[in-house]
Amino acid sequence: MFGPPHVEPVAFLSPRVVYVVTGALRGIGAELVRQLAGACLSPVVIVAGGRCVEKGKQLQERCRSQSQNAQVVFVPLELREPACVAAFVDRVLADFGVPDVLVNNAGLCLDAPSMDALEQCVRVNADAPSELIEAFLPLMLRRGSGRVVNISSGDGEIAYFASDALSVLTVPRKMSSSESYAGPELDVRQLYEQARRFFFDSARRHGGDVSAELVHGTQPCYKVSKALLNLFSRALIYELEARRSSSVAKAKDSATSSPGELAAAEGLERIQIYCVCPGDVDTDMANDVDQLLDAGSSLLSCAESVSRFLELVLVPPAQSCKPPPPCGFYRDGKRIAW
Ligand SMILES: NC(=O)c1ccc[n+]([C@@H]2O[C@H](COP(=O)([O-])OP(=O)(O)OC[C@H]3O[C@@H](n4cnc5c(N)ncnc54)[C@H](OP(=O)(O)O)[C@@H]3O)[C@@H](O)[C@H]2O)c1
Repeated sequence: MFGPPHVEPVAFLSPRVVYVVTGALRGIGAELVRQLAGACLSPVVIVAGGRCVEKGKQLQERCRSQSQNAQVVFVPLELREPACVAAFVDRVLADFGVPDVLVNNAGLCLDAPSMDALEQCVRVNADAPSELIEAFLPLMLRRGSGRVVNISSGDGEIAYFASDALSVLTVPRKMSSSESYAGPELDVRQLYEQARRFFFDSARRHGGDVSAELVHGTQPCYKVSKALLNLFSRALIYELEARRSSSVAKAKDSATSSPGELAAAEGLERIQIYCVCPGDVDTDMANDVDQLLDAGSSLLSCAESVSRFLELVLVPPAQSCKPPPPCGFYRDGKRIAW
């Protein structure tokens, strides 16, 4: 089993923004670390999650010579292992505290449909990101600020799914009433598990082929995994909106509102959840998988792709008056349909 080797802890003298990026050692993730390190004007820590210790050390070294403000720290992360995901969370919290931004970037695209491919894609692209979100988001909510950015794909859009799948991929607009609100994990997890079961049951009925009745086109396992990630994100956004409107309503009622409630309402404004389609990008994934590209389209460089969504990841300076972009699903800097 994958065990986390020891990596030197880091001493910090001043407050700093903490970014966590998974799949940080190549492709879009490595470029995101590079651009984040270059863009930050005050001290930041970038926790680079990845599987190869040697490459992790090399990334740390490279970034040390490139940026004055950014400290890049490699922390081992194998997303197929729930225990490793839990160890990663413990390590981040112990050494750096609650992250300001979690970027779920790591991903896997397997071509031919089978039970094993479905299991692997869903584990890496959806289950593990959801575990990281459930570990960090409640702490971000308690602190009153934080951001989750899920690198998803246009392949997870509802348009790729047969109408039978829409019942499980559609999120009820209002997740919970303000009175019964019990935390993001309850309803969101239930919706997610229900949809996950639905796709796995269908695949089992068709000899492992989830595309038989539910998914249009190529890479059906990848599409299912990204649709589940989108579902989880969208449900969280609705849950957050429900929580936000109830807090704002309470805070506006001056007869009953306490300073704590006012602070809580303001804090919810500082929580953002984004999904991003990075476009068709020149990485190992795009080059390894047949037919990932639509006919006639060309590949973006990692640098170009990341520059189009960097704003969603970067924490603005404390003095910034510009409101963050609204929560949602983005491609090329614009909101798109789920
Ligand atoms: N490239 C595109 O055209 C495109 C389009 C839409 C969406 N995306 C999404 O963009 C994200 C980044 O993909 P990319 O294009 O940069 O692909 P990539 O070059 O293949 O990189 C994938 C990354 O995910 C990591 N990863 C895979 N399995 C993992 C596991 N079990 N545990 C931990 N890390 C794991 C890899 O780590 P190792 O180095 O250890 O293997 C690598 O860092 C993915 O979520 C992908 O779905 C890409």
